Amino acid sequence: MERLIIQGGRPLEGEIRISGAKNSALPILAAALLADGASRIDRIPHLQDITTTMELLGQMGVGLTVDEHMNIEVDPRDIRECYAPYELVKTMRASILVLGPLLARYGQADVSLPGGCAIGIRPVNLHVDGLRQMGANIEVENGYIRARCKRLRGARLVMDLVSVTGTENLMMAATLAKGTTVIENAAREPEVVDLADCLNRMGARVSGAGTDTLVIEGVEKLNGVQYNVLPDRIETGTYLVAVAMAGGRVKLKDTRPELLEAVLLKLEEAGAQVSTGEDWIELGMSRERPRAVKVWTAPYPGFPTDMQAQFCALNAVASGVGMVTETVFENRFMHILEMQRMGADVRLEGRTAISTGVAQLTGAPVMATDLRASASLVLAGLVASGETLVHRIYHIDRGYECIEEKLAQLGANIRRLPR
Ligand code: UD1
Repeated sequence: MERLIIQGGRPLEGEIRISGAKNSALPILAAALLADGASRIDRIPHLQDITTTMELLGQMGVGLTVDEHMNIEVDPRDIRECYAPYELVKTMRASILVLGPLLARYGQADVSLPGGCAIGIRPVNLHVDGLRQMGANIEVENGYIRARCKRLRGARLVMDLVSVTGTENLMMAATLAKGTTVIENAAREPEVVDLADCLNRMGARVSGAGTDTLVIEGVEKLNGVQYNVLPDRIETGTYLVAVAMAGGRVKLKDTRPELLEAVLLKLEEAGAQVSTGEDWIELGMSRERPRAVKVWTAPYPGFPTDMQAQFCALNAVASGVGMVTETVFENRFMHILEMQRMGADVRLEGRTAISTGVAQLTGAPVMATDLRASASLVLAGLVASGETLVHRIYHIDRGYECIEEKLAQLGANIRRLPR
């Protein structure tokens, strides 16, 4: 299997471009299933999760054309089957995003249950319950969600928990339902807003995106669209933490600072100098070590759970005692054990990782267990003494476009070793 080899200790300097957001591109590709014509989605990041989504759509008979800039044309007009098999869903939980669109547009969907996940149970009950309330007949049998309906009807849905893909699935389904759907306690993530904007460009009537109440007036049909996905705020945040840890000065271009306010505040608290423009962020770090910070994850606009592991890495080398509390997922601290193997002084108390920063981590062979955990190990490797070998980097490739190329462009000593 491929690995990343990192020689730590170099500051980061220069400029890089941020890719399109994975968590926007995935639901928007699924939304293309709702249209009566072809859509062209631009600024899709080159990631394993996108390849998986294309396989998923392709095996349904959806026409796909990709150009050299990763702009993807999706044409659902010759769809043959409304089916998402276990083999694909087990590698990417976000495959569940085809459930709402397939059911709303074609009246049927057979989607495998995602199954266990390394970062917690992550059930899909909210997706299923909401669709049932919209009139779908749903059985769960042999590990599959088998959903059927004539035409979905609008309903008032109150989500027990804030769920990002749950909100997205129900919002997509509601666009073609008969009547009006109201989703309360909806997720407010920027990617939900991006999806709503895209759906509205397709002819949907979605309002309230970015607040906790969405109102969707169902329409008879949706058109194909040409749409650009928004920049990836988690990729942006990951590189910013890298600079705050390694020192130096870096400008990230093609990004959106207003999507990262909670993260930028914590970076400033850690001692970084942050300046921003409309579509760029520059971070400089002149202190020898960052200051430890306290972080509490929460749904947007709170501090993102997808940035939690990276801040554990920052606290591991910071001066002082830092705390990271995870409230969104129940088991998202697998990176802690690996960081301990690199010399981090960190312990878990319930859902909080408490660390006393050390002056120097030491390089070690480490193993990535999920996407953001893997990124945090790369960050730790950038500042550790000697060599860090990160195994199982297929997790990183699910969510970071060319991570080693972008870091190398900033002066890091990092290389991919072939299998
Ligand atoms: C999305 C993001 C992921 C991010 C997460 C939280 C995508 C493709 N992925 O994942 O990167 O980490 O939001 O910001 O956008 N839950 C239930 N029942 C449900 C659905 C969720 O109990 O039916 C629980 C989950 O177990 C979890 C919490 O709700 O504890 C939030 O999960 P959710 O927002 O649904 O995460 P995802 O949408 O899967």
